[in-house]
Amino acid sequence: PPQTEIRHFLDLRDLDATTLRDIVDVGLSVKRMQDGRRRPLHPELPLAGRALGLMLSKPSTRTRLSFEVGMRQLGGDVSVLSPADMQLGRGESLADTARVLSRFLDVLVLRTGKTANLHELARWSSIPVINGLTPHSHPVQILADIMTFEEHRGPVAGSRWAWVGDGNNVATSLIEGAVRFGFELDLATPPSMSPNPDVLAWAKAEGGKIRVLHDAREAARGADCVVTDTWTSMSDEESAARLETLRPYQVDRALMTEAAPKALFMHCLPAHIGEEVTQDVFESPASVVFDEAENRLHAQKGLLLWALGGPDWRKAGQLA
Ligand code: CP
Ligand code: NVA
Repeated sequence: PPQTEIRHFLDLRDLDATTLRDIVDVGLSVKRMQDGRRRPLHPELPLAGRALGLMLSKPSTRTRLSFEVGMRQLGGDVSVLSPADMQLGRGESLADTARVLSRFLDVLVLRTGKTANLHELARWSSIPVINGLTPHSHPVQILADIMTFEEHRGPVAGSRWAWVGDGNNVATSLIEGAVRFGFELDLATPPSMSPNPDVLAWAKAEGGKIRVLHDAREAARGADCVVTDTWTSMSDEESAARLETLRPYQVDRALMTEAAPKALFMHCLPAHIGEEVTQDVFESPASVVFDEAENRLHAQKGLLLWALGGPDWRKAGQLA
């Protein structure tokens, strides 16, 4: 079947800058409508009767809860599916699974340890498929990070961010986010953990202002936001050598003093205090990590409205 009109969300680069901007803005205006936690339900329940499937083959706290709670707040239903407990675990193909799930559900979120699984699922699915993290990327996280930056510091366009640590899946999505939202990004990684070269080549071709460095201080200097992530992602083997290689890339107080005076500190969580970040930075006023976690909920409501809302999806964010 022709699938071009299905609103998959596999990577940030697949969407144009205006659509991404609107997803964050609609999410933010629905957040304001919610008035803290006083009015959690969207007054029009725009996704009433719609059903979200959450297929998670890796652990998750934030992704699972933010999609579950967000979908319900928009009036929809949620099924949490554990691939190991599905017939997938006994060998049913992704192609058949996608076609069956498409008959029951309206949107599907997948977290998988194999990036190709996401593309295979999207290829066979006649409903939107959302990337809930792969070893390659984590695009929903960056929607929340951009919302968080803008709430604290105003427009993200023209700001400068530093990524310090492993050039991992979150770094990939941050690079794509920097290009689409128009901010500068310096990444400091060990040479052996540089960001994905295809993503860097894409960013360059798009005119992105992305620099790959190997010195944490150089990257942090003057940055408006310093971001890091775990040194051992779910797709990595744990090893002492890995941690040793990343040791010079710990975000500590000295590194934060290199950044702009009002720089923010971000981390997608879960954090490993004493590895990628020190306790004092994690608990400092610069740290907005829990706002970032909360904004997963709000940004993804914008995303669900886009994926399911048809041509007038922005209207759900336009109530007083
Ligand atoms: N940041 C994030 O995606 O968290 P979870 O692994 O808990 O979903
Ligand atoms: N880079 C981490 C992010 C967890 C939300 C991982 O892939 O495990």
